[in-house]
Amino acid sequence: MEATLEAEHLYKVFGRRPDEAVRRLEDGVDREELRADGTTAAVIDASFTVAPGQIFVVMGLSGSGKSTLLRMLNGLLEPTAGHVRFDGQDLTGLSDRDLRAVRARKISMVFQHFALFPHRSVIENAAYGLAVQGVPRAERERRAGEALALCGLAGWEKSWPDELSGGMQQRVGLARALATDLLLMDESFSALDPLIRRDMQDQLLQLQQSLKKTIVFITHDLNEAMRLGDRIAVMRDGRIVQTGTAEDILVRPADDYVASFTKDVDRSRVLTASAVMDTDLRGDEADCACETATPDTSFGELCAISARLTHPVAVLDAKHKLVGVVPRQRLVGFLGDEQGTPVSCDSPRDAGGDKAVARA
Ligand SMILES: Nc1ncnc2c1ncn2[C@@H]1O[C@H](COP(=O)(O)OP(=O)(O)O)[C@@H](O)[C@H]1O
Ligand SMILES: [Mg+2]
Repeated sequence: MEATLEAEHLYKVFGRRPDEAVRRLEDGVDREELRADGTTAAVIDASFTVAPGQIFVVMGLSGSGKSTLLRMLNGLLEPTAGHVRFDGQDLTGLSDRDLRAVRARKISMVFQHFALFPHRSVIENAAYGLAVQGVPRAERERRAGEALALCGLAGWEKSWPDELSGGMQQRVGLARALATDLLLMDESFSALDPLIRRDMQDQLLQLQQSLKKTIVFITHDLNEAMRLGDRIAVMRDGRIVQTGTAEDILVRPADDYVASFTKDVDRSRVLTASAVMDTDLRGDEADCACETATPDTSFGELCAISARLTHPVAVLDAKHKLVGVVPRQRLVGFLGDEQGTPVSCDSPRDAGGDKAVARA
């Protein structure tokens, strides 16, 4: 069931002579110049890999090319150039018939509204994707029932969609999508009110822990991207300008554009000890009787621990091995500086702090 999704130098150009436009883009002509002759370069040279079990978020402003990219991933749009591979199979080389078969079996696209069929029951809606694939009735109802239970909808199988709240209807859509290997979600939660939206994000994260699907999730909402994304690609004007973890994007923005995008993010909610800690340990050993952190400790918790200690916080892995230290100045550095550049840890005070960890 584990399948990797790969995009390799994908281009999509709308307008006349798209192939020529790709050649010109490869030669460094910019998108605006093409626009002058009525040609839209919607996606330019996009490459990335999504591992099984990963949520890959594509984030960007409206018009940056996100939906076009997603439609190429599921074969709804043929790339002007480049390749899409899923589960080792090159989707760009397939006949229409084979492509339809792959799509039906393995790929599920979830749009902004999970559009349920009003005249089908909840279980029929959840089983719809499997019905399209030709899965026999008994099996598809069993699998759809499991997916519904996972989404907290056990007992609602025989109900009609309009008997469910908006949030529950969304979960039926999610259950339907979960039956396939690859989920492509285009602004799927954007139309929801904030509380339901947050709830759906939690559900997706929770389900993903056991299901380990390959998911591409599109959003223009940075906070949603940061919450959901194992990796995030930031798109601007058709190009992916940076791919990385939420922490990479916050702490090491590729350019001023990405930095300006993340300026207002509450860093303390995204960063964890692993991003903040100093890993240059100079051979120190930790045998701490005092409070320590793990690489996953949140920034807020780290601040609280730091406040209770007189020396840097030791970060220990699952085997209690020291993997980093966090001197207090480093916390301040991450919050204080807009670029998130950590303060130097070579200062005499820090060096003394490390010894304190070693002694503890
Ligand atoms: N079928 C199409 N024909 C012409 N231009 C299109 C088409 N689809 C999208 N575009 C253009 O491609 C660009 C990217 O659009 P889109 O992928 O929808 O962006 P996003 O999803 O990030 O808002 C936009 O300039 C849009 O107008
Ligand atoms: Mg879109």
